[in-house]
Amino acid sequence: MNTSDRPGQLVTGVIARAKDAPVELATIHVPDPGPGEAVVRVQACGVCHTDLHYVQGGIGDDFPYLLGHEAAGIVEAVGDGVTDVAPGDYVILNWRAVCGECRACKRGRPWYCFNTHNATQKMTLEDGTELSPALGIGAFIEKTLVAAGQCTKVDPAARPAAAGLLGCGVMAGLGAAINTGAVTRGDSVAVIGCGGVGAAAIAGARLAGASKVIAVDLDDRKLEGARELGATHTVNSSEQDPVEAIQGLTDGNGADVVVEAVGRPETYRQAFYARDLAGTVVLVGVPTPEMQLELPLADVFGRGGALKSSWYGDCLPSRDFPMLIDLYLQGRLPLDAFVTEEIGIGDIDAAFTKMHSGDVLRSVVVMAGESA
Ligand SMILES: NC(=O)c1ccc[n+]([C@@H]2O[C@H](COP(=O)([O-])OP(=O)(O)OC[C@H]3O[C@@H](n4cnc5c(N)ncnc54)[C@H](O)[C@@H]3O)[C@@H](O)[C@H]2O)c1
Ligand SMILES: [Zn+2]
Ligand SMILES: [Zn+2]
Repeated sequence: MNTSDRPGQLVTGVIARAKDAPVELATIHVPDPGPGEAVVRVQACGVCHTDLHYVQGGIGDDFPYLLGHEAAGIVEAVGDGVTDVAPGDYVILNWRAVCGECRACKRGRPWYCFNTHNATQKMTLEDGTELSPALGIGAFIEKTLVAAGQCTKVDPAARPAAAGLLGCGVMAGLGAAINTGAVTRGDSVAVIGCGGVGAAAIAGARLAGASKVIAVDLDDRKLEGARELGATHTVNSSEQDPVEAIQGLTDGNGADVVVEAVGRPETYRQAFYARDLAGTVVLVGVPTPEMQLELPLADVFGRGGALKSSWYGDCLPSRDFPMLIDLYLQGRLPLDAFVTEEIGIGDIDAAFTKMHSGDVLRSVVVMAGESA
């Protein structure tokens, strides 16, 4: 069925048509919202590593993908039965629209929700080809269709280019420290990998009152950025052994919490040995399917503590987004420091290149006619 037969509107968005092909601008049909759905006018959307993973075929083969998922915007219309948000609301989009009914939700742990909601209807190309929206969002587009639960209302005083970043990588890093790692005042914390996610874990550790925050990366530019976000010490692990360096900075003991924000076996091993006895390792970096980890089981037992993984920073958007935006507006959470550059919707391939070379924490697409 082509688009002229269906209620909705035609807008411009960015798609990945096939594996490793350059991304392209396309005309996309966005249906009017059905029951439980909302159409959101996107104001800004960050470029995340996960978007590139989609392009590279690393997440699935459901091409064409509608890219983009770290976004803020204004609700334009809602479908039947939607009461939590209304047209005109300023929202951050999330990829954990809590269902309230799965076994995680029923056990009172909705941040793990195993059945998160997305829009039921599909956005399509003009010829009717259905699109797969990145992380169930798809926000490099003028307007997107999502489940209403994917819209979290926040204070409109927060500028979209900064606020949208809470929708994915920055929340993942903040939450890895604050929620999963349960960092508290006086803790020593080490963060391995200081890209957007690791840098956010550093900001989170500082916010939670960590007394020592040790940043580890191979790239001095990232270590400099980490210092600005609150790292008290930096370690370039291409020049010195990071386990020894972290132990040396913690009276020989290791850190209370080590956040691994790279997603590789060698950095996980560093995290495992760089923490104090009974300390916590948080894995927030995402490994690829072929990676394997081997550790002496005697050390897994003998060193005790907790080995945890952090999905989306174990966040509960309705609890965490408004609170973190309030802290941002009070000057206590430097979200602006994550916005390295603002770009147009046509500049996404160039942003992938800059991300790959380590030149940016985040490039953020600001939609034409919107203020950032
Ligand atoms: N768990 C989640 O919910 C979630 C959400 C978003 C992103 N992520 C993942 O978090 C990871 C980091 O994302 P990002 O956006 O910060 O990526 P990024 O590419 O911006 O940052 C990665 C950083 O790690 C550093 N690095 C690479 N190899 C290293 C090594 N051997 N030792 C020390 N540092 C090293 C790089 O120099 C870079 O600064 C990715 O795996 C991403 O997929 C996880
Ligand atoms: Zn659920
Ligand atoms: Zn992301």
